[in-house]
Amino acid sequence: AALPADHPLVDGRTATAPLIRALRGDRPEHLPVWFMRQAGRSLPEYREARQGIGMLDSCLRPELASEITLQPVRRHGVDAGIFFSDIVVPLRLAGVGVDIAPGVGPVMDQPYRTTEDIERLVSLSVDDDALAPIRRAVALTVAELGHTPLIGFGGAPFTLAAYLVEGRPSRDHLAARTMMHAAPETWDRLVSWTGDLTGAFLRAQVEAGASAVQLFDSWAGSLSRADYTERVAPSSVRALAHVAGLGVPAIHFGTGTGHLLGAMRDVLVSAGVTDPAVGVDYRTPLDEAATALPGVPLQGNVDPALLAAPWPVLEAHVRDVAARGATAPAHVLNLGHGVPPDTDPAVLTRVVELAHTL
Ligand code: CP3
Repeated sequence: AALPADHPLVDGRTATAPLIRALRGDRPEHLPVWFMRQAGRSLPEYREARQGIGMLDSCLRPELASEITLQPVRRHGVDAGIFFSDIVVPLRLAGVGVDIAPGVGPVMDQPYRTTEDIERLVSLSVDDDALAPIRRAVALTVAELGHTPLIGFGGAPFTLAAYLVEGRPSRDHLAARTMMHAAPETWDRLVSWTGDLTGAFLRAQVEAGASAVQLFDSWAGSLSRADYTERVAPSSVRALAHVAGLGVPAIHFGTGTGHLLGAMRDVLVSAGVTDPAVGVDYRTPLDEAATALPGVPLQGNVDPALLAAPWPVLEAHVRDVAARGATAPAHVLNLGHGVPPDTDPAVLTRVVELAHTL
Protein backbone atom coordinates (compact mmCIF):
# COMPACT_ATOMS: atom_id res chain seq x y z
CA ALA A 1 0.00 0.00 0.00
CA ALA A 2 1.21 3.49 -0.78
CA LEU A 3 -0.23 6.99 -0.73
CA PRO A 4 -1.31 8.45 -4.08
CA ALA A 5 1.26 10.77 -5.75
CA ASP A 6 -1.01 13.79 -5.27
CA HIS A 7 -1.35 13.23 -1.50
CA PRO A 8 -0.21 16.33 0.48
CA LEU A 9 2.42 14.32 2.33
CA VAL A 10 3.87 13.02 -0.95
CA ASP A 11 3.65 16.06 -3.25
CA GLY A 12 5.47 18.32 -0.77
CA ARG A 13 2.59 20.37 0.62
CA THR A 14 2.74 19.09 4.21
CA ALA A 15 5.87 16.92 4.56
CA THR A 16 7.86 19.75 6.17
CA ALA A 17 4.98 21.38 8.06
CA PRO A 18 5.87 21.96 11.75
CA LEU A 19 3.24 19.46 12.92
CA ILE A 20 4.56 16.66 10.71
CA ARG A 21 8.19 17.40 11.55
CA ALA A 22 7.38 17.27 15.28
CA LEU A 23 5.42 14.03 14.94
CA ARG A 24 8.45 12.57 13.17
CA GLY A 25 10.63 13.45 16.15
CA ASP A 26 12.12 16.72 14.94
CA ARG A 27 12.16 20.19 16.55
CA PRO A 28 10.60 22.52 13.96
CA GLU A 29 11.03 26.33 13.81
CA HIS A 30 8.12 26.90 16.19
CA LEU A 31 6.14 24.81 18.62
CA PRO A 32 3.21 23.39 16.60
CA VAL A 33 -0.21 23.71 18.20
CA TRP A 34 -3.78 22.56 17.55
CA PHE A 35 -6.71 21.90 19.88
CA MET A 36 -8.92 18.86 20.28
CA ARG A 37 -12.49 20.08 19.58
CA GLN A 38 -11.14 23.26 17.99
CA ALA A 39 -14.09 23.00 15.59
CA GLY A 40 -17.27 23.31 17.58
CA ARG A 41 -19.46 25.27 19.88
CA SER A 42 -16.79 27.72 21.07
CA LEU A 43 -16.99 29.34 17.60
CA PRO A 44 -19.96 31.59 16.67
CA GLU A 45 -19.38 30.75 13.00
CA TYR A 46 -19.82 27.05 13.90
CA ARG A 47 -23.09 27.65 15.75
CA GLU A 48 -24.28 29.66 12.76
CA ALA A 49 -23.32 26.96 10.23
CA ARG A 50 -24.92 24.17 12.27
CA GLN A 51 -28.29 25.91 12.80
CA GLY A 52 -31.14 23.46 12.33
CA ILE A 53 -28.83 20.62 11.23
CA GLY A 54 -28.30 17.57 13.43
CA MET A 55 -24.74 16.76 14.48
CA LEU A 56 -24.41 13.50 12.52
CA ASP A 57 -26.23 14.91 9.49
CA SER A 58 -23.74 17.80 9.42
CA CYS A 59 -20.87 15.30 9.40
CA LEU A 60 -22.31 13.66 6.27
CA ARG A 61 -22.67 16.87 4.24
CA PRO A 62 -19.20 17.21 2.67
CA GLU A 63 -19.32 20.99 1.99
CA LEU A 64 -20.51 21.72 5.52
CA ALA A 65 -18.08 19.33 7.25
CA SER A 66 -15.25 20.86 5.24
CA GLU A 67 -16.28 24.44 6.07
CA ILE A 68 -16.51 23.62 9.80
CA THR A 69 -13.07 21.95 9.69
CA LEU A 70 -11.56 25.07 8.12
CA GLN A 71 -13.15 27.62 10.50
CA PRO A 72 -10.70 27.25 13.42
CA VAL A 73 -7.71 27.10 11.06
CA ARG A 74 -8.65 30.45 9.55
CA ARG A 75 -9.51 32.04 12.87
CA HIS A 76 -6.69 30.79 15.12
CA GLY A 77 -3.84 30.04 12.70
CA VAL A 78 -3.37 26.59 14.27
CA ASP A 79 -0.81 24.21 12.76
CA ALA A 80 -3.39 21.59 11.75
CA GLY A 81 -7.01 21.06 10.90
CA ILE A 82 -8.80 18.21 12.68
CA PHE A 83 -11.40 16.66 10.42
CA PHE A 84 -14.91 17.60 11.56
CA SER A 85 -16.70 14.33 12.14
CA ASP A 86 -17.35 12.09 15.12
CA ILE A 87 -16.13 8.75 16.39
CA VAL A 88 -19.65 7.30 15.92
CA VAL A 89 -19.97 8.36 12.25
CA PRO A 90 -18.73 4.98 10.96
CA LEU A 91 -21.36 3.26 13.16
CA ARG A 92 -24.04 5.36 11.46
CA LEU A 93 -22.56 4.59 8.03
CA ALA A 94 -22.66 0.87 8.84
CA GLY A 95 -26.37 1.17 9.63
CA VAL A 96 -26.30 1.15 13.44
CA GLY A 97 -29.07 3.21 15.04
CA VAL A 98 -27.03 5.95 16.69
CA ASP A 99 -27.59 9.63 17.29
CA ILE A 100 -25.77 12.39 19.14
CA ALA A 101 -27.99 14.02 21.74
CA PRO A 102 -26.99 17.65 22.37
CA GLY A 103 -25.32 18.01 25.76
CA VAL A 104 -25.34 14.23 26.26
CA GLY A 105 -23.29 12.55 23.53
CA PRO A 106 -23.76 9.37 21.51
CA VAL A 107 -26.97 7.45 22.22
CA MET A 108 -27.73 4.03 20.65
CA ASP A 109 -31.15 2.70 19.69
CA GLN A 110 -30.51 -0.05 22.26
CA PRO A 111 -27.66 -1.35 24.43
CA TYR A 112 -25.76 -4.12 22.58
CA ARG A 113 -25.07 -6.76 25.25
CA THR A 114 -26.17 -10.28 24.35
CA THR A 115 -24.41 -12.64 21.96
CA GLU A 116 -27.37 -12.15 19.56
CA ASP A 117 -27.00 -8.35 19.77
CA ILE A 118 -23.31 -8.60 18.92
CA GLU A 119 -23.87 -11.13 16.11
CA ARG A 120 -26.32 -8.69 14.53
CA LEU A 121 -23.80 -5.87 14.79
CA VAL A 122 -20.88 -7.75 13.29
CA SER A 123 -22.99 -8.64 10.25
CA LEU A 124 -22.89 -4.90 9.34
CA SER A 125 -19.99 -3.20 7.58
CA VAL A 126 -18.96 -0.03 5.78
CA ASP A 127 -17.95 -0.26 2.15
CA ASP A 128 -16.28 2.32 -0.11
CA ASP A 129 -19.64 3.73 -1.22
CA ALA A 130 -20.73 4.40 2.34
CA LEU A 131 -17.48 6.25 3.00
CA ALA A 132 -17.81 8.48 -0.09
CA PRO A 133 -19.05 11.56 1.86
CA ILE A 134 -16.03 11.25 4.17
CA ARG A 135 -13.56 11.05 1.27
CA ARG A 136 -15.24 13.99 -0.44
CA ALA A 137 -15.22 16.17 2.70
CA VAL A 138 -11.52 15.41 3.28
CA ALA A 139 -10.63 16.12 -0.36
CA LEU A 140 -12.46 19.48 -0.29
CA THR A 141 -10.70 20.37 2.96
CA VAL A 142 -7.12 19.53 1.96
CA ALA A 143 -7.61 21.44 -1.30
CA GLU A 144 -8.18 24.57 0.84
CA LEU A 145 -5.60 23.83 3.55
CA GLY A 146 -2.54 24.03 1.29
CA HIS A 147 0.57 23.61 3.48
CA THR A 148 -1.44 23.06 6.68
CA PRO A 149 -1.86 19.35 7.42
CA LEU A 150 -5.25 17.76 8.09
CA ILE A 151 -5.41 15.27 10.95
CA GLY A 152 -7.83 12.40 10.45
CA PHE A 153 -9.15 10.50 13.44
CA GLY A 154 -11.15 7.59 14.68
CA GLY A 155 -12.49 6.29 17.97
CA ALA A 156 -10.57 3.40 19.44
CA PRO A 157 -12.39 0.05 19.47
CA PHE A 158 -12.83 0.08 23.26
CA THR A 159 -14.33 3.56 23.41
CA LEU A 160 -16.76 2.69 20.59
CA ALA A 161 -17.60 -0.66 22.19
CA ALA A 162 -18.22 1.08 25.52
CA TYR A 163 -20.88 3.30 23.87
CA LEU A 164 -22.46 0.29 22.15
CA VAL A 165 -22.61 -1.94 25.22
CA GLU A 166 -23.77 0.80 27.58
CA GLY A 167 -26.12 2.23 24.93
CA ARG A 168 -25.20 5.77 26.03
CA PRO A 169 -22.44 7.73 27.76
CA SER A 170 -21.50 6.28 31.14
CA ARG A 171 -18.94 7.08 33.78
CA ASP A 172 -17.42 3.71 34.68
CA HIS A 173 -18.27 1.59 31.61
CA LEU A 174 -19.31 -1.18 33.99
CA ALA A 175 -21.35 -3.20 31.48
CA ALA A 176 -18.51 -3.15 28.95
CA ARG A 177 -15.93 -4.12 31.56
CA THR A 178 -18.20 -6.92 32.78
CA MET A 179 -18.65 -8.24 29.23
CA MET A 180 -14.93 -8.52 28.56
CA HIS A 181 -14.68 -11.01 31.45
CA ALA A 182 -18.13 -12.63 31.49
CA ALA A 183 -18.30 -13.25 27.72
CA PRO A 184 -14.73 -12.87 26.45
CA GLU A 185 -15.40 -14.41 23.02
CA THR A 186 -18.37 -12.16 22.37
CA TRP A 187 -16.30 -9.20 23.56
CA ASP A 188 -13.48 -10.10 21.17
CA ARG A 189 -15.93 -10.28 18.26
CA LEU A 190 -17.27 -6.87 19.19
CA VAL A 191 -13.91 -5.09 19.49
CA SER A 192 -12.50 -6.78 16.38
CA TRP A 193 -15.51 -5.38 14.53
CA THR A 194 -15.23 -1.86 15.98
CA GLY A 195 -11.49 -2.04 15.22
CA ASP A 196 -12.06 -2.80 11.55
CA LEU A 197 -14.80 -0.17 11.34
CA THR A 198 -12.53 2.54 12.72
CA GLY A 199 -9.69 1.26 10.56
CA ALA A 200 -11.81 1.70 7.42
CA PHE A 201 -12.79 5.22 8.57
CA LEU A 202 -9.14 6.15 9.20
CA ARG A 203 -8.04 4.71 5.89
CA ALA A 204 -10.66 6.64 3.93
CA GLN A 205 -9.44 9.91 5.51
CA VAL A 206 -5.76 9.17 4.88
CA GLU A 207 -6.28 8.08 1.28
CA ALA A 208 -8.31 11.24 0.63
CA GLY A 209 -5.56 13.51 1.97
CA ALA A 210 -5.15 13.45 5.78
CA SER A 211 -1.44 13.80 6.68
CA ALA A 212 -1.64 12.27 10.17
CA VAL A 213 -4.19 10.43 12.29
CA GLN A 214 -5.22 10.41 15.92
CA LEU A 215 -6.83 7.41 17.60
CA PHE A 216 -9.07 8.60 20.45
CA ASP A 217 -9.32 6.02 23.22
CA SER A 218 -11.09 8.55 25.40
CA TRP A 219 -12.40 6.09 27.97
CA ALA A 220 -9.42 3.67 28.16
CA GLY A 221 -8.44 5.27 31.47
CA SER A 222 -11.21 3.32 33.19
CA LEU A 223 -9.36 0.05 32.48
CA SER A 224 -6.73 -1.73 34.54
CA ARG A 225 -3.43 -2.20 32.75
CA ALA A 226 -4.07 -5.96 32.49
CA ASP A 227 -7.52 -5.50 30.95
CA TYR A 228 -6.16 -2.90 28.58
CA THR A 229 -3.29 -5.07 27.43
CA GLU A 230 -5.22 -8.33 27.13
CA ARG A 231 -8.76 -7.32 26.08
CA VAL A 232 -8.37 -4.01 24.29
CA ALA A 233 -4.90 -3.37 22.89
CA PRO A 234 -5.07 -6.11 20.18
CA SER A 235 -8.16 -4.51 18.63
CA SER A 236 -6.51 -1.06 18.65
CA VAL A 237 -3.52 -2.60 16.86
CA ARG A 238 -6.01 -4.03 14.37
CA ALA A 239 -7.55 -0.59 13.76
CA LEU A 240 -4.20 1.15 13.23
CA ALA A 241 -2.93 -1.62 10.96
CA HIS A 242 -5.38 -0.32 8.32
CA VAL A 243 -3.23 2.82 7.93
CA ALA A 244 0.22 1.94 9.30
CA GLY A 245 1.47 0.82 5.89
CA LEU A 246 0.62 4.20 4.40
CA GLY A 247 3.40 5.85 6.42
CA VAL A 248 1.40 8.61 8.12
CA PRO A 249 2.29 9.63 11.69
CA ALA A 250 -0.23 8.41 14.29
CA ILE A 251 -1.08 9.89 17.69
CA HIS A 252 -2.67 7.69 20.36
CA PHE A 253 -4.69 9.64 22.94
CA GLY A 254 -6.76 8.78 25.99
CA THR A 255 -7.79 10.43 29.25
CA GLY A 256 -6.80 9.20 32.68
CA THR A 257 -4.21 6.98 31.01
CA GLY A 258 -1.12 7.78 33.12
CA HIS A 259 -0.89 4.05 33.94
CA LEU A 260 -1.31 3.02 30.29
CA LEU A 261 1.14 5.30 28.45
CA GLY A 262 3.68 2.55 27.74
CA ALA A 263 0.96 0.14 26.63
CA MET A 264 -0.51 2.79 24.32
CA ARG A 265 2.91 3.38 22.74
CA ASP A 266 3.26 -0.40 22.30
CA VAL A 267 -0.04 -0.46 20.36
CA LEU A 268 1.34 2.03 17.81
CA VAL A 269 4.59 0.11 17.49
CA SER A 270 2.88 -3.30 17.18
CA ALA A 271 0.62 -1.93 14.44
CA GLY A 272 3.74 -0.94 12.47
CA VAL A 273 3.16 2.82 12.67
CA THR A 274 6.35 4.45 11.33
CA ASP A 275 6.03 7.64 13.43
CA PRO A 276 4.25 6.93 16.72
CA ALA A 277 3.29 9.78 19.08
CA VAL A 278 1.34 9.73 22.34
CA GLY A 279 -1.27 12.28 23.45
CA VAL A 280 -1.21 12.96 27.19
CA ASP A 281 -4.15 14.32 29.16
CA TYR A 282 -3.72 17.15 31.71
CA ARG A 283 -3.27 14.82 34.69
CA THR A 284 0.25 13.57 33.87
CA PRO A 285 3.05 16.17 33.58
CA LEU A 286 4.82 15.91 30.22
CA ASP A 287 8.28 15.47 31.78
CA GLU A 288 6.97 12.39 33.61
CA ALA A 289 5.41 11.11 30.38
CA ALA A 290 8.72 11.75 28.57
CA THR A 291 10.55 9.59 31.13
CA ALA A 292 7.99 6.82 30.71
CA LEU A 293 8.15 7.02 26.89
CA PRO A 294 11.78 7.49 25.85
CA GLY A 295 12.18 8.54 22.21
CA VAL A 296 8.47 9.20 21.66
CA PRO A 297 7.07 12.61 20.53
CA LEU A 298 4.40 13.82 22.94
CA GLN A 299 1.24 15.85 22.44
CA GLY A 300 -0.55 17.87 25.10
CA ASN A 301 -1.40 18.82 27.75
CA VAL A 302 -2.77 22.24 28.71
CA ASP A 303 -5.57 21.86 31.26
CA PRO A 304 -8.82 22.96 29.53
CA ALA A 305 -10.02 24.40 32.86
CA LEU A 306 -7.31 27.05 32.67
CA LEU A 307 -8.69 28.47 29.40
CA ALA A 308 -11.16 30.34 31.63
CA ALA A 309 -8.48 31.60 34.06
CA PRO A 310 -6.94 35.11 33.86
CA TRP A 311 -4.39 35.34 31.03
CA PRO A 312 -1.26 35.56 33.24
CA VAL A 313 -2.30 32.28 34.95
CA LEU A 314 -2.93 30.57 31.60
CA GLU A 315 0.26 31.97 30.07
CA ALA A 316 2.39 30.68 32.95
CA HIS A 317 0.72 27.26 32.60
CA VAL A 318 1.32 27.11 28.82
CA ARG A 319 4.98 28.05 29.34
CA ASP A 320 5.31 25.34 32.00
CA VAL A 321 3.73 22.73 29.68
CA ALA A 322 6.13 23.76 26.88
CA ALA A 323 9.15 23.58 29.22
CA ARG A 324 8.17 20.07 30.34
CA GLY A 325 7.43 19.10 26.73
CA ALA A 326 10.95 20.19 25.84
CA THR A 327 12.25 17.14 27.75
CA ALA A 328 10.63 14.86 25.10
CA PRO A 329 12.27 14.40 21.68
CA ALA A 330 9.48 16.48 20.17
CA HIS A 331 6.30 18.16 21.34
CA VAL A 332 2.99 19.21 19.81
CA LEU A 333 1.12 21.64 22.05
CA ASN A 334 -2.54 20.77 22.62
CA LEU A 335 -5.07 20.61 25.41
CA GLY A 336 -5.30 17.67 27.78
CA HIS A 337 -8.87 17.12 26.47
CA GLY A 338 -11.32 19.00 24.23
CA VAL A 339 -12.08 22.74 24.12
CA PRO A 340 -14.96 23.42 26.56
CA PRO A 341 -17.97 24.81 24.59
CA ASP A 342 -18.06 28.11 26.54
CA THR A 343 -14.40 28.97 25.84
CA ASP A 344 -13.71 32.50 24.59
CA PRO A 345 -12.19 31.86 21.13
CA ALA A 346 -9.91 34.90 21.52
CA VAL A 347 -8.10 33.00 24.30
CA LEU A 348 -7.36 30.11 21.94
CA THR A 349 -5.96 32.51 19.34
CA ARG A 350 -3.73 34.01 22.03
CA VAL A 351 -2.43 30.56 23.03
CA VAL A 352 -1.52 29.91 19.39
CA GLU A 353 0.33 33.24 19.18
CA LEU A 354 2.21 32.41 22.39
CA ALA A 355 3.11 28.89 21.20
CA HIS A 356 4.53 30.34 17.99
CA THR A 357 7.01 32.44 20.02
CA LEU A 358 8.23 29.33 21.88
O1 CP3 B 1 -12.37 19.84 16.41
C1 CP3 B 1 -12.72 18.64 16.59
O2 CP3 B 1 -12.09 17.93 17.37
C2 CP3 B 1 -13.88 18.18 15.76
C3 CP3 B 1 -14.06 16.76 15.51
C4 CP3 B 1 -14.55 15.84 16.63
C5 CP3 B 1 -15.86 15.78 17.18
N1 CP3 B 1 -15.94 14.71 18.01
C6 CP3 B 1 -16.96 16.69 16.88
C7 CP3 B 1 -18.09 16.80 17.84
C8 CP3 B 1 -13.81 14.83 17.21
C9 CP3 B 1 -12.35 14.50 17.02
C10 CP3 B 1 -14.70 14.11 18.07
C11 CP3 B 1 -14.31 12.91 18.79
C12 CP3 B 1 -15.19 12.35 19.80
N2 CP3 B 1 -16.55 12.23 19.80
C13 CP3 B 1 -14.69 11.69 20.94
C14 CP3 B 1 -13.26 11.54 21.29
C15 CP3 B 1 -12.70 12.79 21.85
C16 CP3 B 1 -13.10 13.08 23.27
O3 CP3 B 1 -13.78 14.10 23.46
O4 CP3 B 1 -12.71 12.32 24.13
C17 CP3 B 1 -15.79 11.23 21.67
C18 CP3 B 1 -15.75 10.49 22.99
C19 CP3 B 1 -16.96 11.57 20.93
C20 CP3 B 1 -18.38 11.28 21.27
C21 CP3 B 1 -19.11 12.55 21.43
N3 CP3 B 1 -19.61 13.27 20.38
C22 CP3 B 1 -19.35 13.29 22.63
C23 CP3 B 1 -18.97 12.84 24.02
C24 CP3 B 1 -20.01 14.48 22.26
C25 CP3 B 1 -20.39 15.65 23.14
C26 CP3 B 1 -21.85 15.76 23.41
C27 CP3 B 1 -22.19 17.15 23.90
O5 CP3 B 1 -23.04 17.79 23.28
O6 CP3 B 1 -21.61 17.61 24.90
C28 CP3 B 1 -20.16 14.45 20.86
C29 CP3 B 1 -20.74 15.50 20.01
C30 CP3 B 1 -19.77 16.29 19.22
N4 CP3 B 1 -18.76 15.78 18.46
C31 CP3 B 1 -19.77 17.70 19.09
C32 CP3 B 1 -18.72 18.02 18.22
C33 CP3 B 1 -18.35 19.38 17.71
C34 CP3 B 1 -20.77 18.65 19.75
C35 CP3 B 1 -21.99 18.68 18.90
C36 CP3 B 1 -22.70 20.02 18.98
O7 CP3 B 1 -22.14 21.02 18.49
O8 CP3 B 1 -23.81 20.03 19.51
